[in-house]
Amino acid sequence: MRRFLYPSDLGSLKAALEEAKAVKSNPYADQALGRNKTLLLLFFNSSLRTRLSSQRAAYNLGMNVIVLDVNKDGWQLETEFGVIMDGDKPEHLREAVPVMGQYCDIIGVRSFARFEKREDDYSEPILQQFIDYSGVPVISLESATRHPLQSFADLLTIEEYKQVERPKVVLTWAPHPRALPQAVPNSFVEWMKLADVDLTVTHPAGYELAPEFMDGVHYEADQKKAFAGADFIYAKNWASYNSYGQILSQDRSWTVDEAKMALTNKARFMHCLPVRRNMIVSDAVIDSEASIVIPEAANRVVSMQVVLKRMLQSIAEDEDF
Ligand code: CP
Repeated sequence: MRRFLYPSDLGSLKAALEEAKAVKSNPYADQALGRNKTLLLLFFNSSLRTRLSSQRAAYNLGMNVIVLDVNKDGWQLETEFGVIMDGDKPEHLREAVPVMGQYCDIIGVRSFARFEKREDDYSEPILQQFIDYSGVPVISLESATRHPLQSFADLLTIEEYKQVERPKVVLTWAPHPRALPQAVPNSFVEWMKLADVDLTVTHPAGYELAPEFMDGVHYEADQKKAFAGADFIYAKNWASYNSYGQILSQDRSWTVDEAKMALTNKARFMHCLPVRRNMIVSDAVIDSEASIVIPEAANRVVSMQVVLKRMLQSIAEDEDF
């Protein structure tokens, strides 16, 4: 396994979920696999969960970890091509990426959407540089368009908490004061389409996700109708895709509250965190027993550990030749 961006990078999701359960029940079983192997975690954007869960997963596998916060710790990196580098960025990504590949065995990269040009964000220029030029396996720690480690953890969490074989899962837009990327909802939809769930997406007009993600997915304009009979409510804000990067609404009637949760089938509440209380979700809901945001975050260690384990196994196989 040389790359983790899409669910297909894992092969069978059923097998990946079984592996995740095994990793969770015996997290130190593969300590020898990561011996003398180094994970580099590179952040162009802030993180709490991804940073800490990735380190924990790597330590569980016996790996060494280097963390670089690009905006604070290194040279400022130029990411545009063909520019005259006479500004404040002394190093180009084109050299920095293969250099970083010399110091580690696996690289994880976090690089959010910039909301300048949609085509640029959706072509994943920074992540692709690492895939093409680092020379080592690359894990997305959330890119412009996807957050696969989050979605894998979300899928595991739903599997653990579901009360029926095929639960109704609702992804609902909720208000937020800042323009947020579509990476989490895109990935969530992409993964849920492959899972044994009944998925509904609800959002105000203008917040349609890219057709490549929404193709074949049930959309319900009325949030209350969408919530009816739901087993899981997954709340998230995202900025507009069609009016790219714009905030079209901050309508707090879309906040998830107790009255809306009462319409569901005693649904569990999920969010990737960080979450804005009383914007995305009311205190009463996130503090209730329905909320599973903490076990959801805990599963981020498991999703990363499965991905790292698969990559370390591939590296070990290559070394045997
Ligand atoms: N959910 C998530 O990726 O959290 P962080 O941004 O804190 O890593």
